[in-house]
Amino acid sequence: MKLKPTDFIVILTGAGISAESGIRTFRAQDGLWEEHRIEDVATPEGFMRNPELVHAFYNQRRRQLQEASVMPNPAHLALTRLEQQWPGDVLIITQNVDNLHERAGSQKLLHMHGELNKIFCQFCKTRLIWNTDLSTETACPHCGNVGMLRPDIVWFGETPYHMDEILRALAVCQLFISIGTSGLVYPAAKFAQIASQAYRIETNLQETEISGSFNKHLIGPAGSEIPKLIEALLAREFLV
Ligand code: APR
Repeated sequence: MKLKPTDFIVILTGAGISAESGIRTFRAQDGLWEEHRIEDVATPEGFMRNPELVHAFYNQRRRQLQEASVMPNPAHLALTRLEQQWPGDVLIITQNVDNLHERAGSQKLLHMHGELNKIFCQFCKTRLIWNTDLSTETACPHCGNVGMLRPDIVWFGETPYHMDEILRALAVCQLFISIGTSGLVYPAAKFAQIASQAYRIETNLQETEISGSFNKHLIGPAGSEIPKLIEALLAREFLV
């Protein structure tokens, strides 16, 4: 396959792209799900049972984004370069709730699992940028109700955001690149199959459950594999 300059590139990112920025992935040996139970901190039922526990989990993760050591890494920066320099359209779909793509300068970005630095009020439905801690005592700045705010995170059992736009993009793109996702969580795990008309590249430290859905595999850390791949794409050397 040789890409044309007008081709539409869709990129899916998962926790692996942020690992080299110091953010833990979920399913590694030292991953977040080793220490926390999904059903306690990442489901609507868990939030109803123990909202303070859920707030504490996301407060800690939100605070981490402000640590000086947590910065976009060469993979995030390379994707921004692609968006700026590729003549065709580029869309990033991220499962990550960190803000490293936008801090790297990406503009066409869909957060399908929400964002750590946003919250919403379950009473008045207002969505707000939020960079400090949240508790059951926090009043909604919009409607004043107390105990109605929640992290703007898509929990297990909830529908990911932007699905119409995502499915439309997957159906028409010419290149689909998946970076640093285990392929264990749906619907993202199905995206490579949905984009079956596209050439599909997977980048990961290892093979995944869904490696069979891709045409090409780049095995290695995103921070070194992605800049090389993007350079080759921008140099139009991309012959496979
Ligand atoms: N470079 C490339 N890939 C990496 C790197 C790296 N430096 N480090 C880790 N990986 C890979 C791992 O091999 C693994 O396959 O990233 C993947 C991370 O997988 P998960 O921890 O399962 O994260 P992700 O796929 O993003 O999880 C999907 O599950 O828990 C939910 O909502 C949460 O968005 C998350 C979703």
